[in-house]
Amino acid sequence: MEQKFIKPPVEERYKKELEALAMNDSSRKPENWRLSPKAVRAFILGSDIPLTAPDGSKIEIRKKFFGNDALVERCIITLTGSRGLMLVGEPGTAKTMLSELLSAAISGVSTNTVQGTAGTTEDMIKYSWNYALLLAKGPVREALVPSPLYVGMSKGIITRFEEITRTPAEIQDSLISVMSDKVLNIPELEDEGLLFACPGFNIIGTANTRDKGVNEMSSALKRRFNFETVEPVKDVRLEKQIILNEVQESAVEDKIGMPLDTDVAELLAMTYHELREGISDTGIKIERPSAVMSTAEAVSVYYQTLSNAWYYEQKKMSIDDLTQNLVNAVCKDTRDDLEKLKAYFNTVVKQRAEKVGGLWKQIYFSKKYLK
Ligand SMILES: Nc1ncnc2c1ncn2[C@@H]1O[C@H](COP(=O)(O)OP(=O)(O)OP(=O)(O)O)[C@@H](O)[C@H]1O
Ligand SMILES: [Mg+2]
Repeated sequence: MEQKFIKPPVEERYKKELEALAMNDSSRKPENWRLSPKAVRAFILGSDIPLTAPDGSKIEIRKKFFGNDALVERCIITLTGSRGLMLVGEPGTAKTMLSELLSAAISGVSTNTVQGTAGTTEDMIKYSWNYALLLAKGPVREALVPSPLYVGMSKGIITRFEEITRTPAEIQDSLISVMSDKVLNIPELEDEGLLFACPGFNIIGTANTRDKGVNEMSSALKRRFNFETVEPVKDVRLEKQIILNEVQESAVEDKIGMPLDTDVAELLAMTYHELREGISDTGIKIERPSAVMSTAEAVSVYYQTLSNAWYYEQKKMSIDDLTQNLVNAVCKDTRDDLEKLKAYFNTVVKQRAEKVGGLWKQIYFSKKYLK
C-alpha cells in the first residue's frame, strides 16, 4: 500500500499537474528550470484550458494563490535573474505557500529549506561534517554533509530560507558572498575548496513583519534580494473562496465527509476582513485586535468547527462552536482583544443581526461565549 503523509510536499501533492504542465510546455526556459516561466505562472495562477496529462486524461490547473497576479509574475522573473527573492509581509499571507509553489514548479523540489531561528548556525545553511568520517579520512568531500545552500548550488535548484530575519544578522550575512559571486568557499577541502553554483540555483527568503524586523537585515544583504510585499487578501468574496478551497482540500485529505456551509465561510471572511481593516462595510469604526487576523487563521477557525461537527456527529456546523473557536483564535495574545471582539459584536454584528438576520442573528446570540 502507498505510504500516506499528513502534509505531502507540494511537488507530490500536485504531481499530476506538474507533469501535465511539463508535457505541454514549449515556451522559453532558463537553464535547468523544470518549467518555463509561463508554465510556472500557470501552475500558481491556474489556466483556463484543461491540459492533457501523461496518462492521456485531462487535468485542470487550479489557481492556488489569490489576490495579486502581477506579484507572482514579478517573483518568477526575479528568480530567472541573479538576485534572490524576498517575500515579506504579515503572518498568514501565504509567503511560505508561494515560495513552496515556486520552488516545486521551478526546481521540482520544495523541501530544500533552511528554517531560520535564533539558533540557526552557518553549518545548518552551508555544510557540516560527519565526524566519524572526518576522523577516519580527514577533511575529504565524502565526510562533508551538505546543508540546503550547498545542495541548491550543487544541484542548480532553489534553496528556500524560511523566516530569514529570525536568524542572527551575522549568520544571515554569510549569504552575501555566495549571492554575489555564486561560489561557496570550503577552506577545509584542499582540492575542492570552491563550490560553484550551477544554473537554476537561487534563494527565496520569507520574512514576517511581525517578527524581528527586516530593518535589522544588513543593507549589503538586502541589496542582493528583490523584495516583494505580500498583502492580506482585500476582497471579501475572494477570502471566502480561499477559505472554502483550503477547507475542502483538507477535508478530502482527512476524509471528513461533512458538506461545507458557504454562508459560514462568508460570515468568517467578513468578520476577519472587518477586524483586520478596522472598519465595517457601513462605515462603523472598529478597534483592531492586536492578534493577527489572517486568512490562514480564518481557515483554521472554519476547519476546527467543521471537524467538531463531523467527529461529534452533529447535523451541521454549530455557530456556538464557531464563536468559541473565533474567541480562542483572536484572544491568544492579550485579553484586551476580547474587549475589542465584544465591541465588534455589540455594534457591527448587532446591527447586521437586525438588518440581515440569518447567520448574523445566530452569531449575535452566541455572544455569551465571549468570555
Ligand atoms: N492570497 C492567498 N491565496 C491563497 N491562499 C492564501 C492566501 N493568503 C492566505 N492563504 C491561506 O493561508 C495559508 C497561509 O499560510 P502560509 O504559511 O503560507 O503563510 P505565511 O505568510 O508564510 O505565514 P507566516 O508569516 O506565519 O509564516 C495558505 O496555506 C492558504 O491556506
Ligand atoms: Mg511562513
